[in-house]
Amino acid sequence: HLEVARVRNLSSVILGEHIIEPWYFSPYPIELTEEDEIYICDFTLAYFGSRKQFERFRTKCSMKHPPGNEIYRDSKVSFWEIDGRKQRTWCRNLCLLLKLFLDHKTLYYDVDPFLFYIMTVKSSQGHHVVGYFSKEKESADGYNVACILTLPCYQKMGFGKLLIQFSYMLSNVENKVGSPEKPLSDLGLLSYRAFWTDTLVKLLVERNNPHLFKKNNPQLLTETSLKDSSVSPPPGGRQSANIQNGNTPSSDITIDEISSITCMTTTDILHTLTALQILRYYKGQHIIVITDHVMAMYEKLVKKVKDKKKHELDPSKLSWTPPA
Ligand code: COA
Ligand code: NA
Repeated sequence: HLEVARVRNLSSVILGEHIIEPWYFSPYPIELTEEDEIYICDFTLAYFGSRKQFERFRTKCSMKHPPGNEIYRDSKVSFWEIDGRKQRTWCRNLCLLLKLFLDHKTLYYDVDPFLFYIMTVKSSQGHHVVGYFSKEKESADGYNVACILTLPCYQKMGFGKLLIQFSYMLSNVENKVGSPEKPLSDLGLLSYRAFWTDTLVKLLVERNNPHLFKKNNPQLLTETSLKDSSVSPPPGGRQSANIQNGNTPSSDITIDEISSITCMTTTDILHTLTALQILRYYKGQHIIVITDHVMAMYEKLVKKVKDKKKHELDPSKLSWTPPA
């Protein structure tokens, strides 16, 4: 019966030095799923039904990183680009592994149409897979991510945001806006919303006040006026307005400009601004209000980066041209 066959079929997966409990069914070979635990090499992603087999393999295995080009490296992570068509076995093994943690994707064997971007961390043994996203070589819908995953042993440590940041760095090089493939899982949505919020909070606050860091400057402007095509302009014009003191705000920015700076779609931008409750209609025009809440979020963000509690990728370290 189909329903029975889809029930989670493994109780435990030993991945390199980590023990992970699978969340969902994945179509590993039936001989393997009869075992209590399976062993996966975290360089090749090859899988084994017993520790003995796994250890025999490891003594012969010389692979120290994913089988592709390293296109980004900083002090914390590397990214590797892998063509599904050129590395079918590795990518199929990756899909089997990720299916253990994804309920709704059905990508296992047809890896050819995808590029895989693998994030690794380095140890004395080599570059270990932490997470990845896949991307269609041609996306008719303008998706810049098909599927995204942080392995559970690395989740909730900020790696998901790095994967997302990287996907937008690629879009930036391509000169395109992008958005992840829908539907997103609950965790996917949470992570994207958090990333989009960080990105917009940072952009709007810094754009609105370049002198923010000057402690002697008490003037934190509180809004940015919006002259935008995707929000219909009110009749009567677009003069800037400043709720606080009637001055002209220091910067005007349109949703389209935000989109071309961030590579986020206007839909994702408007959704995030609305969720932040900072898109307002005031004296005949739409404005973005930099609320105290947004300022507090900004300051928290800056502090996290300064205290090294949050890593950010450095776009200048990306060495990549879009595959032809
Ligand atoms: N509960 C509450 N919030 C969570 C969360 C959880 N379990 N997991 C992530 N978040 C929030 C974090 O609070 C964080 O926001 P913050 O930095 O503002 O606090 C944000 O999401 C990103 O967290 P981060 O640690 O960078 O993400 P991650 O490395 O855990 O990876 C996913 C996020 C979505 C990639 C990961 O959960 C995953 O692989 N899930 C399974 C696969 C999946 O659903 N993929 C998406 C659909 S294709
Ligand atoms: Na599925």
